[in-house]
Amino acid sequence: MAHLIAPSLLSADFANLRKDVEMVNNSEADWLHLDIMDGVFVPNISFGMPVIASVGKYCTKPLDVHLMIVEPDKFIDEFHKLGAYVLNVHYEACTHLHRSIQRIKALGMKAGVTLNPHTPVSVLEEIVPDVDLVMLMSVNPGFGGQKFIENTIDKTARLKELILKRNSKAIIEIDGGVNYETGKRLLEAGADALVAGSFVFGAENPTDTIARLKAL
Ligand code: DX5
Ligand code: ZN
Repeated sequence: MAHLIAPSLLSADFANLRKDVEMVNNSEADWLHLDIMDGVFVPNISFGMPVIASVGKYCTKPLDVHLMIVEPDKFIDEFHKLGAYVLNVHYEACTHLHRSIQRIKALGMKAGVTLNPHTPVSVLEEIVPDVDLVMLMSVNPGFGGQKFIENTIDKTARLKELILKRNSKAIIEIDGGVNYETGKRLLEAGADALVAGSFVFGAENPTDTIARLKAL
């Protein structure tokens, strides 16, 4: 499978979201990544439901929603109504992860589980056959534009091994500090999907940057 590129709206121009969404629509991006932060699970607040509803009206790419919130179960149904295609919940935020995953899938969304940089892939041993996607944070969640954590390369390879060992069909997505150089190494290590925020929206030509990430 060709790898997927998911530009993160977090680094877009919030006063001109429609323009940036249209740029993504007309690019080779596969998904639009939406970062939802509650100021509790992570030390920052991003945007919430009304923004997603408005963005969803114009976005023609599937929405890859990343919940950085405590008690994500409370909002699974609502994110489904808002049109999420992938719903990512953090391992660290879910006491009953199996139940959360089953609910996401029952609603017809792709179920993703996300790991913070300090969380070992081994915690996924039992759940990995049930999920559609595992997302590894390659920065501590909460902010765009941070430095890539190098350990993520080996961690991606270890996750790939676990997925194969457990006969899982899960794909591997990486979020944080992705650029041409880290992106290439992540793909070599087994990543299937790359999120890129500041590298895309901070570029002189975001459309071209997406195309080059897609061609890595
Ligand atoms: C960070 C978010 C990321 C962020 C990535 O908490 O989950 O999706 O937008 O930003 P960059 O690509 O700038 O590291
Ligand atoms: Zn994210």
